[in-house]
Amino acid sequence: MADVRPESMERITTEALAKTFIEEQVAAVREQVGNKKVLLALSGGVDSSVVAALLIKAIGKQLVCVHVNHGLLRKGEPEQVIEVFKNQMDANLIYIDATDRFLDKLAGVAEPEKKRKIIGEEFIRVFEEEARKLEDVDFLAQGTIYPDILESGPVKAHHNVGGLPEDIHFEGLVEPIKLLFKDEVRVIGRALGLPSEMVDRQPFPGPGLGVRCTGAITRDRLEAVRESDAILREEFKNAGLEGKVWQYFTVVPDYKSVGVKNNLRSFEWPCIIRAVNTVDAMTATVEEVPYAVFDKIVSRITAEVPGINRVLYDLTPKPTGTIEWE
Ligand code: XMP
Repeated sequence: MADVRPESMERITTEALAKTFIEEQVAAVREQVGNKKVLLALSGGVDSSVVAALLIKAIGKQLVCVHVNHGLLRKGEPEQVIEVFKNQMDANLIYIDATDRFLDKLAGVAEPEKKRKIIGEEFIRVFEEEARKLEDVDFLAQGTIYPDILESGPVKAHHNVGGLPEDIHFEGLVEPIKLLFKDEVRVIGRALGLPSEMVDRQPFPGPGLGVRCTGAITRDRLEAVRESDAILREEFKNAGLEGKVWQYFTVVPDYKSVGVKNNLRSFEWPCIIRAVNTVDAMTATVEEVPYAVFDKIVSRITAEVPGINRVLYDLTPKPTGTIEWE
């Protein structure tokens, strides 16, 4: 497949068009790989999930999916990957909990670009080690999409977790969705029967919660990010904001302020809420969240998340802020 989308290629907007695309790709993948094995780093994000579902349809257990949990995933994510792909689709899935390994490497590292670099590199190392253990894997599948090919010069080291293992030789790459735009990938995912929480989920950076636990990551503060994020997502869903707001999450910075809890002085972290809308992530505006929704979120986060005594809302558009804090 060429790297340029032909002008004649119709935009995939309907289930019927998706079905045709799926049939064509299933045939193309079978033709490309024959009876050989294909390896895929399955993060649980939209792109890798759609590639996994497509390849399971095409070649079943010849696909080996590796899901690396770097300890920086959102609450419930690794469980969902296992449930959907292993339990429901009967995929050949290897699950690796590498949390300790990543957090040990990240201990004491406060500089954002260094954190991103460590996470990206460690991911490749873990993936490579797994690949080496498997015998006779000839192809590497990737969830490359068209904007990845078109994109140029980002502000941050946007290396997606899941880069190419450098010193393992593969016979070829399998990139069945590389000419598709994101909305088309979602249409394909739906047609393949993936759950809406996977197909319609908001963007999530490769370095995960690591860039939302600012400065040097500690386990207790990382847990505060994970728990507050889960509460925010739940309350946005209850308020009908899910699918309406482009991206929303919490950040827990590495400094504390004085407060009162149960009539006692507390000295704890603040939790910052970010909720933005954008078309292409190059610029972004801040969502006008109703105060009643905030009220609920503030009471739940301060009551349920250990270590948090304040909740703040980030009112900054991009520019001057970026969407993420690191
Ligand atoms: P910023 O923070 O640069 O983010 O305004 C723009 C969009 O990109 C996401 N983001 C990433 N996505 N790998 C990714 O796949 C990354 O390393 C990464 N860093 C930021 C961010 O969540 C937002 O949607």
